[in-house]
Amino acid sequence: MKKITVSAPGKLMLFGEHAVVYGHPCIVTAVDSRMFVTAEVTSSGSFELNAPDVQIKDYIKPTNEIGNGEIPKGAQFIEVAIKNVLEKYKKKLTGFSVVTRSEFSSKFGFGSSSASTVCIVKALSELLSLKLSSREIFDISFKTVLEIQGKGSGFDVAAAVYGGTLYFVTGGKVIKPLKIKTLPLIVGYSGIKADTVKLINKVSRKFDKKQKRLNQIYDDIEEIVERGRAFMLSEKWEEVGILMDANQKLLKELGVSIEKLDNMIYSASKSGAYGAKLSGAGGGDCIIALAPNSKRKAVESGIEKAGGTILSVRTNARGVKVEK
Ligand code: PMV
Repeated sequence: MKKITVSAPGKLMLFGEHAVVYGHPCIVTAVDSRMFVTAEVTSSGSFELNAPDVQIKDYIKPTNEIGNGEIPKGAQFIEVAIKNVLEKYKKKLTGFSVVTRSEFSSKFGFGSSSASTVCIVKALSELLSLKLSSREIFDISFKTVLEIQGKGSGFDVAAAVYGGTLYFVTGGKVIKPLKIKTLPLIVGYSGIKADTVKLINKVSRKFDKKQKRLNQIYDDIEEIVERGRAFMLSEKWEEVGILMDANQKLLKELGVSIEKLDNMIYSASKSGAYGAKLSGAGGGDCIIALAPNSKRKAVESGIEKAGGTILSVRTNARGVKVEK
């Protein structure tokens, strides 16, 4: 029966995290480490899932039970996405087998859950001849992620669908590709897994009685995003670096940076980076640094000396696509 493999890229937040959850813009780039999903329509009467990266082995249930009952954590995004597509487009499956494979660890914070959600929606669009547009794939994938996580802006879903580097506003109100040829980015992994929703909640608790200051921080972040966008388009990397430092300062005030990230960022800057910041929710995951080519090696070893691992990824990667 019909079988397809689809892939989608991971992502890195360049500017605007946290503020983007509350109506402000951000800039995100897709990275060339990809998630792959192979899906096959079968006649077995059951839904089967193997997702070794998230410890799901031979998970099986009747197709008419998709989305019902207790769903193990690693299966949630794929299974709820399938349920949402079948419900919205009034389709049924005689049987369905799904296997996922990732080129990157789900610990990096590259958005493996969103990328696998986007892959399965695209796979179903092809297998059931739904001809979904990118916008439709974004909308149903974002709805799925929100149903499971409860919170989030959808920037990671947009990166997986559209690829490239995007100017993005909460919930996909604006999704605008930025034509950027190069981005001399260095990525350092902290070795610590971050919990996005916990960190979003931590910020709102911390500023419970300081709403005015919180709104001011979000407005300042928005200004950084707008200026960052212009400087990136004109390839003024030194200025982009200065804005990264300014964004990091505000993230620190939000309370989402940690000592390990601070040390990696400090070390990157001391080794000659134009600027550096955490990327994503904070609390762990990755830092990004921008450096001239002549300083790249020095910055990389600076980050390593502070305990980080360099992840060599290319930015501006292609969005979701059919592999075969
Ligand atoms: O933790 P990550 O890498 O998924 O980034 C989260 C960024 C937030 O702005 C805190 C949340 C969001 O969905 O935009």
